[in-house]
Amino acid sequence: MPEPSLLTAQDLELSSVVANNTMNRERGLTGVNSYARELGLDPLDELSGSPSPSWLDLCSGEGRALREAAARLPEDAVLTAVDLVGPLAPTPAPPALEEIVASVTTWTPTRTYDLITCVHGLHYVGDQLGLLARAASWLTPEGLLVAHFDPDSVRRPDGSPAGRAAVTALRTAGFRYDARSHRLSLRGGRSVVLPFRYVGADPDAGPNYTGQPAVGSHYA
Ligand SMILES: C[S@@+](CC[C@H](N)C(=O)[O-])C[C@H]1O[C@@H](n2cnc3c(N)ncnc32)[C@H](O)[C@@H]1O
Repeated sequence: MPEPSLLTAQDLELSSVVANNTMNRERGLTGVNSYARELGLDPLDELSGSPSPSWLDLCSGEGRALREAAARLPEDAVLTAVDLVGPLAPTPAPPALEEIVASVTTWTPTRTYDLITCVHGLHYVGDQLGLLARAASWLTPEGLLVAHFDPDSVRRPDGSPAGRAAVTALRTAGFRYDARSHRLSLRGGRSVVLPFRYVGADPDAGPNYTGQPAVGSHYA
């Protein structure tokens, strides 16, 4: 098998696999095309125990789910949406919602959150394991992180599979992984160190379980 040529985060973010305009970026809060359906939980139920709820959405697309949540959460709720592109048709965000156009590979919050989500966003991030480790430290002590994760996208530098080792390391660090739903979750903020060194991304890894072209993440 020829070794894949790997891209830096900067080059990856300019590649056609990340700039794919057929991606589903418009999931709402509840309903058929929604966060509740993809996450297997209603984000508002999850946030209901917190007097001033906070929700960080990584790779937030159009930010529809957070916009809908802002209308139904207390005034002092904190909602943060981070996306490389952001909403394509910008309309003013509700006061509780901050929409940040940035790469999740470099952006860092200045606070912790009760809920952190990444709905079908990791598929386009090179250093997925690095982002998961960083995001674990952005949770409140009782906070919940949920992200879609495809172990098949985690590879060694020569292209051989490393997904099983990645899931084992994530479980050892306290994450749960449900292979059927491809959902990774973590309850409670913590410091996570995973025994993987990121070496680059393969934009030609092909379609993943969603049927869309996705990125291969390579680790030594
Ligand atoms: C399949 S869409 C999902 C959007 C949204 N979560 C939803 O379900 O409606 C993936 C999103 O990831 C974003 N994305 C890809 N790479 C990113 C990166 N490095 N940093 C931030 N966002 C990124 C894309 O711009 C796109 O909006």
